[in-house]
Amino acid sequence: MNAFQFVNPTRIVFGEGEADKIGQFIAEYGGRTILLVYGSGSIKKTGLYDRTLKHLQDAGVTVHELPNIEPNPRLTTVKKGIETCRANGVDFILAVGGGSVIDGAKAIAAGVPYEGDVWDFFTNKATIKEALPIGTILTLAATGSEMNGSSVVTNWEENLKRAFGSSYTYPKFSILDPTLTYTVPRNHTVYGSVDIMSHVFEQYFSLTKNTPLQERLCESILQTVIENVGIALENPSDAAARANLMWCGTMALNGGLISVGMQNDWASHGIEHEVSAIYDIPHGAGLAVIFPNWMKYVHEERIDRFVQYAVRVWGVDPEGKSDKEVALAGIQATRDFFSRIGAESRLADFGIGGEKLDRMAEEAVRYGAIGSFKRLEKQDVYAILEMSL
Ligand code: NZQ
Ligand code: ZN
Repeated sequence: MNAFQFVNPTRIVFGEGEADKIGQFIAEYGGRTILLVYGSGSIKKTGLYDRTLKHLQDAGVTVHELPNIEPNPRLTTVKKGIETCRANGVDFILAVGGGSVIDGAKAIAAGVPYEGDVWDFFTNKATIKEALPIGTILTLAATGSEMNGSSVVTNWEENLKRAFGSSYTYPKFSILDPTLTYTVPRNHTVYGSVDIMSHVFEQYFSLTKNTPLQERLCESILQTVIENVGIALENPSDAAARANLMWCGTMALNGGLISVGMQNDWASHGIEHEVSAIYDIPHGAGLAVIFPNWMKYVHEERIDRFVQYAVRVWGVDPEGKSDKEVALAGIQATRDFFSRIGAESRLADFGIGGEKLDRMAEEAVRYGAIGSFKRLEKQDVYAILEMSL
């Protein structure tokens, strides 16, 4: 295990009905004039918008709004939010939605006090030194954005999707009411679950040795998602399944709690972001295609970890099999599971052909080789994309 520090400042408020206390929370964190950030209408359909607005008004909070944050949030929309905050003296940002809404809110929060272009934070041209405080009401189990400092934004004009991570953009609080996820459509329940599992993979497939607790934490999240996603798909209002998926999502990517002291990989996320940047497909959908191919491409770097994964997570019987056979059986089980719950298996399923592979591979390594389980150069990324067609 490597040396590490861990801090996570986000207050989690978990439970049915907690979103109705939003007025209290905003007041507690000093919000008087807020920007309410949300997506393309799901919160209006579910009634969450009306309830939230009423609680805020009852608490005497002045509310400005930024609707229509896109799935895969766009830089242009973030800039609109920054302008609204500046023009109205906004002192707190409330994000109500999934990862896209929360990521958009974080970028706005960092952009308001910064004199330059907020895109600088995504291209390593500038470092975040301050940000407006944000709070969230989460409506979709997936990204972990509710308890981490990362934001992923798309510059659609340049077909670039980039991330930043900062200690200044952790939400002050996040309200996790699993009943708010009952209305998540089937496909986004699937994609969110794939995303959660992928966050675990990025941390679990590590060259770092002597980390048994971290490995078991990772395996337990994977097993819990595997057990619960089918139940949620069968019955979208299953309270226990929705609660378990929600907590898995938060635990899987909250500043690295499950993988402290371990080297992380993140190459598959980097590759997927290049696909989404051009073709605007849901993040989890892209990961369901890319990850099993990444696994096939890299598993020989450390076969024992893939054997452990196959045996512990998928129950592969190693008796009479070589390590390679066991490892490949675990990878196949992953692929089969993604297909079984309804995730696509090929880029072609989205109408994506080979035309832009070179550009995607080039952009993925723009700042150098990616990944740590196996360092991937441009030709490696190209090969994984080609396997994914
Ligand atoms: O836009 P609305 O109307 O809200 O509809 C959304 C959207 O269409 C809908 N939805 C959300 N909650 C719902 C609901 N529909 C009905 N009922 C509800 N309760 O679901 C659709 C997808 O929402 P989105 O927020 O885009 O999904 P997700 O949470 O998966 O976020 C994806 C984004 O997060 C980034 C991804 O790259 C992508 O841009 N990521 C952020 C990370 C982070 N900040 O740490 C890490 C991840 O790896 C990821 O890269
Ligand atoms: Zn992800």
